[in-house]
Amino acid sequence: MITGHRGAAALAPENTLISIKKAAEAGVSWVEIDTQLSADGIPVVIHDETVNRCTNGKGKIADLNLAELKTLDAGSWFNPDFTGEHIPTLAEAFDTCLALDLTLNLELKIHHAEQIEPLVNAVIDLVKKTKFPINKLLFSSFQKRALELCQQKMPEVRRGFICEVWNGYSLTSIAASQPYSVHIDHHILTPTIAKDIKDAGYVLKIWTLNNEKKAQSFFDMGVDSIITDAPDKF
Ligand code: G3P
Ligand code: MG
Repeated sequence: MITGHRGAAALAPENTLISIKKAAEAGVSWVEIDTQLSADGIPVVIHDETVNRCTNGKGKIADLNLAELKTLDAGSWFNPDFTGEHIPTLAEAFDTCLALDLTLNLELKIHHAEQIEPLVNAVIDLVKKTKFPINKLLFSSFQKRALELCQQKMPEVRRGFICEVWNGYSLTSIAASQPYSVHIDHHILTPTIAKDIKDAGYVLKIWTLNNEKKAQSFFDMGVDSIITDAPDKF
């Protein structure tokens, strides 16, 4: 019922291997992380378009090769205790999730539409190459096109549609990608929207809820899973 967000973003530098480990230590069975491609086409685990906020470097991920990304310190911005953490490759994150028996909500982080197809292709190639267990994996994205491509290329992996806006057209517009779940910004969820999503047969996840006192009211609406930076509080 609880998923660690970006690993456990309140407990360790987000989207690092130590962050995934902290989520497991907090007792969750699911983690969410974000992936995008380095300049040389390697899926890496980081949220923003640039390395500026979460490392000691500067520049766009899409302009930096893996070797350059690996020189960066991705821990000390959060706390000096985490100095020396690096941006993980997705392959490294897969290994960590497997070792900790975590199910992975893998967000395909798209900053520009032209990134969709190369990212989907590279991620699917890696899933196949590493034989990552598909029952321990869910692809998620704000981009319907990304989920549609995933559905075409690797339909056996579940898909989650992430949204921060919901309107009368939302249910019909996501149908083409045949999602397993809808991941909605908790700020916009109402009992009516929750009922519509559940009645349509989707698993309902909310992000990013860090106030454990509000959890029950969301479960009462039919929410199946809470994505949180602070899994230890839940
Ligand atoms: O997967 C839910 C959440 O991660 C989406 O927003 O910006 O944190 O990737 P963001
Ligand atoms: Mg995310």
